[in-house]
Amino acid sequence: QTIATEESPLPIPPLLKDRNPDPNKAVFQLTAQNATKEFVPGKKTETMGYNGDYLGPVIRVRKGEEVSVKVKNNLDDITTIHWHGLEVDGDKDGGPHSGIQPGESWTPKFKIEQPAATLWYHPHPEQETGRQVYKGLAGLFLIEDEVSDRMDIPKEYGVNDVPLIIQDKRFNSDGTFQYDLGMHDVMNGLQGDTMLVNGAVNPFFEVPRGMMRLRLLNGSNASVYELNFSNNQTFYQIASGGGFLGKPVKMNKIVLGPAERAEILVDFSDLEKGETVQLENNGSEFMKFTAKSESPKEYTIPTKLTTIDKINPDDAVKTRKFVFQGMGPMVNINGKQFDMDRIDEKLRMNDTEIWEISNESGMGMMDGTVHPFHAHGVQFQILDRDGNPPPANETGWKDTVLVNPDEKVRVIATFKHSGVFMYHCHILEHEDAGMMGQFKVGE
Ligand code: C2O
Ligand code: CU
Repeated sequence: QTIATEESPLPIPPLLKDRNPDPNKAVFQLTAQNATKEFVPGKKTETMGYNGDYLGPVIRVRKGEEVSVKVKNNLDDITTIHWHGLEVDGDKDGGPHSGIQPGESWTPKFKIEQPAATLWYHPHPEQETGRQVYKGLAGLFLIEDEVSDRMDIPKEYGVNDVPLIIQDKRFNSDGTFQYDLGMHDVMNGLQGDTMLVNGAVNPFFEVPRGMMRLRLLNGSNASVYELNFSNNQTFYQIASGGGFLGKPVKMNKIVLGPAERAEILVDFSDLEKGETVQLENNGSEFMKFTAKSESPKEYTIPTKLTTIDKINPDDAVKTRKFVFQGMGPMVNINGKQFDMDRIDEKLRMNDTEIWEISNESGMGMMDGTVHPFHAHGVQFQILDRDGNPPPANETGWKDTVLVNPDEKVRVIATFKHSGVFMYHCHILEHEDAGMMGQFKVGE
């Protein structure tokens, strides 16, 4: 049932305080906890949050920084915390092997070695990822570097550089989240009917009449979003999940699969004062922007953003195949369902490989399911989709890629971190059902 609520101001997730004054080191603390929150006026929803009642604070770090995060588990269940998109060794990555028992904590330490990007973090306990993310455990992890420092784009966090964590939920009539998986959910993952942005239903945000930078995260369990503005205005994508694109890509609609991020620049300077523009998913409005006073600074769209060194396919020492197969409870990769005790793929340190991901799960069916493929601990480049070069907004670094029914996507990466990592479908109900495998880099 869809819940019509009063519009509320867009919550801005707070920046997490770095407890170390040394500029080259950062120390953070996160606590995963049970909470309740009022999404529906007068009704209490049981939630989970990091340091709060829903979602988590934004961790912002710099390239080169030594980071330590103490993660305390105040939940009643085991959890883990995975840094989605971060290039770190397997023992820091927070996959299902890094369980934190209730009352315990885990303090990974790692160095930031990758360029400016909008990453995120979320739990990853075996078979429970879907439920814990759905209840609210997720947050953004931003990296800045000299390239982002120099770039003349909006950077005032919460003012003209604004994160939008987009999710969809189903509510029971008593206000609780509904997470009973029916047949449709087992097949396609849980797709809700009520959109949340940063944890608010129907939010509004007052924008300057000028350039806005929006950091979009599809934080849903299973839904692919097709986003556009109600006035059909154009915008420019400047970053994909792993960082800035080579140059801005002009568009008026953007598709984001589960776990995918994009940064976009939107120019609101043509709006009249007080004029409103809606953000829509598949033609339905779910948040609005209202123009306020003049922007204090004028921005132009940069012509160039960064240099992306293309990985040469000739450098690949191996091509591996990953085939999404099966449906519902039978979903699998290469005919195998997840087994914590089995390493599916062994790689050597610093090797470059091509991974060929095929979606054959809908074979012979009326309509197949799209599966977002994600690999931990690495950023890759897309070589081609069914033999065709990727669209311009997919020519940068990515860690998650949508693979459409019957499609074959080839990606290339160099594996610079050792340890055990996951690869899986990021429809969380598919992941939890076993559409996941493990690769080990190095000895
Ligand atoms: Cu975003 Cu294996 O996860
Ligand atoms: Cu899937």
